[in-house]
Amino acid sequence: MDNPGKFYITTPIYYVNARPHIGHTYTTVVCDAVARRQRMMGLDTWFLTGTDEHGQKIERSAAAAGCSPREFVDKIASEFRGLWDRMRISYDDFIRTTEPRHVRGVQALFIRLQERGFIYKGSYSGQYCVFDELYVDAVGPGSPCPECGRPTETVHEENYFFKLSAMEGPLLKYYNEHPGFIRPETRRNEVIAFVRSGLRDLSVSRTSFKWGIPVPNDPKHVIYVWLDALANYMTAIGFGSDDPKDQEKLARYWPADVHMIGKEIVRFHCVYWPAFLLAADLPLPKSIIAHGWLLFEESKMSKSRGNIVRSETILDTLGGDALRYFLLREIVFGQDGSFSFDALVQRFNADLANDLGNLSSRTLSMITRYFQGEVPYPSPSERTPADEAIAKLAEETIADFHAQFEQFQFSRALETAWALVAAVNKYIVENEPWAVAEREDKDSRARLATILYTSAEALRIVTALAHPIIPDATARIWTQLGLGNISHLDLRALAWGQLQPGTRLGKVEAVFPRADKSTIERMQQMEQQHSAESATPAKPEEATPAAGSEGASAPPGVPSSAPVVGERVGTSIDNKITIDDFLKVELRVGEIKVAEKVKGADKLLRMEVDIGTEVRQIVAGIAKVYEPEKLVGRKVVIVANLQPRKLRGLESNGMIVAASFGDDGQPVLAGFLEDVPVGAKLK
Ligand code: MSP
Repeated sequence: MDNPGKFYITTPIYYVNARPHIGHTYTTVVCDAVARRQRMMGLDTWFLTGTDEHGQKIERSAAAAGCSPREFVDKIASEFRGLWDRMRISYDDFIRTTEPRHVRGVQALFIRLQERGFIYKGSYSGQYCVFDELYVDAVGPGSPCPECGRPTETVHEENYFFKLSAMEGPLLKYYNEHPGFIRPETRRNEVIAFVRSGLRDLSVSRTSFKWGIPVPNDPKHVIYVWLDALANYMTAIGFGSDDPKDQEKLARYWPADVHMIGKEIVRFHCVYWPAFLLAADLPLPKSIIAHGWLLFEESKMSKSRGNIVRSETILDTLGGDALRYFLLREIVFGQDGSFSFDALVQRFNADLANDLGNLSSRTLSMITRYFQGEVPYPSPSERTPADEAIAKLAEETIADFHAQFEQFQFSRALETAWALVAAVNKYIVENEPWAVAEREDKDSRARLATILYTSAEALRIVTALAHPIIPDATARIWTQLGLGNISHLDLRALAWGQLQPGTRLGKVEAVFPRADKSTIERMQQMEQQHSAESATPAKPEEATPAAGSEGASAPPGVPSSAPVVGERVGTSIDNKITIDDFLKVELRVGEIKVAEKVKGADKLLRMEVDIGTEVRQIVAGIAKVYEPEKLVGRKVVIVANLQPRKLRGLESNGMIVAASFGDDGQPVLAGFLEDVPVGAKLK
């Protein structure tokens, strides 16, 4: 039975074919803040994160980087772990799906499902999306995956199948009886609609690649990556082990209280995972919470879109707390939210350096100056309505903050806490302790003591509440307040008036560095420099992840960015171009309106492409790969300011951007996953 005094929270396990970026950091920081707070609320908390290391795309990424899958996954997994350690993420365990404890657990789950009659052998012939690791309803080789738009591959396989179709009724019943199982409500509704529309059996093994967990007693097959990956939530706490210690741990923490995920992996967590568990007769997690996406330059931050920001850049300039605060304060949890360096610095300066930083430094330095560094006794006779109002607001802040945080409304909770900071800063300005300190009578001294006690006590309360979100800065303020180690604090007992007069302050120092325009420029330069460096081909021993991306379905040797076919833009001596050179190239989104073969030229297609302002005729050497009928309506990237040239007597007015690979330079047209308006500029 579930143990009510415990709290088990998980992040998704991240794919190791892309290095960590602040999108991954977002989920991890959310979980870290929740886990830290639950510990402070006295719960026996277990926080799990880790890496997802099997599957064809990882096998291919390793091959593209010229190393073995093992070397490849070791390197990237250690980058994830290293980043979380650097950010002092308070995870209790880090699971890697290549670890023996996980392999053993997945095989145990597979056998359990087989023994209960939910897995059978069948055969499949059709389209497969390597990026999503999914069989999809699509027709013909190369046709796009309905999930992600990437070209699918044709496979003929004998597979093991999971009887997902049999779980339709049980799943719907479960969703109905557990309204808080999938959150937020919009995701819950989507999942229910998806299951209601009918479930087909799911192939849960592959023979087309090797880098995975072998099916027990049939090692020609490897277990489907999502069955493998989802099981981590249980294998990490001992599922599949005979060791009594592991069994005890499993009983102590399973079922998980929260699986925190991004919204793109809802189906796997809310349909497949509960279906596997129901079939295996294992308890289901209590809730699956899907948050929105972190956008950068208006689209989801991801390596495949080339619009990532690394956490390290922010850690090196503003520090971990700045990033954590920004992510939780700026993004309304559940919705998509944008990242920009400007917004980060603005938030940092306004809320941390100014509001909290000022409250802390002026309160503590005045106590140091006027009371020799000891928290003064507030005088009951010198208490005014203004002091009472702060005490009352602080009590309300504690209650509201808890309620909002528990609803995962981090931005509102922080807004609530910072309203107290603003109120105390205003109180200080209005009560002018520095002027009161000038007067030497007894009453003024007592008044000064009350003002500074009130300010320090409010500071203590905000610091305690904010600790799970900005652990470093708050730990330092706590020490400056003379209160020792903040992690020993019991948040349940937090109340006004607990600051003991007479407490000796620690050494008072500024907690947040200053940031200005040059900080933004520095961060941008660091990112530019990093992407320039990672664009240079990796030697095998310094294997960079993935030709092509997160979803690298590209074969070995395919460059990660799509070159402009056959064209060279201005190069400098060291073969690099400046941003100004790049901006000379006018790239636009176009839509192909007409496409036809060019007589007598078996490689050429003549197209009419709408680029927003006009329809252009463009001739391109793509006929060997693309059938003209299939191109009509497709959005492509056009070099719009290229001098016209003639090909087979036809004027070509622009060029279509494509990747080109293999000895014969096979083209693959560049395109978009999201809908983009015709004529939009690329930069
Ligand atoms: N390996 C699977 C998950 C298996 S869990 C059993 C996977 N990995 S992933 O590396 O692609 O990570 C996806 C998760 O990373 C998202 O669900 C989200 O938690 C986080 N994010 C990655 N990029 C993100 C944004 N741009 N914005 C918000 N979260 C992001 O899917």
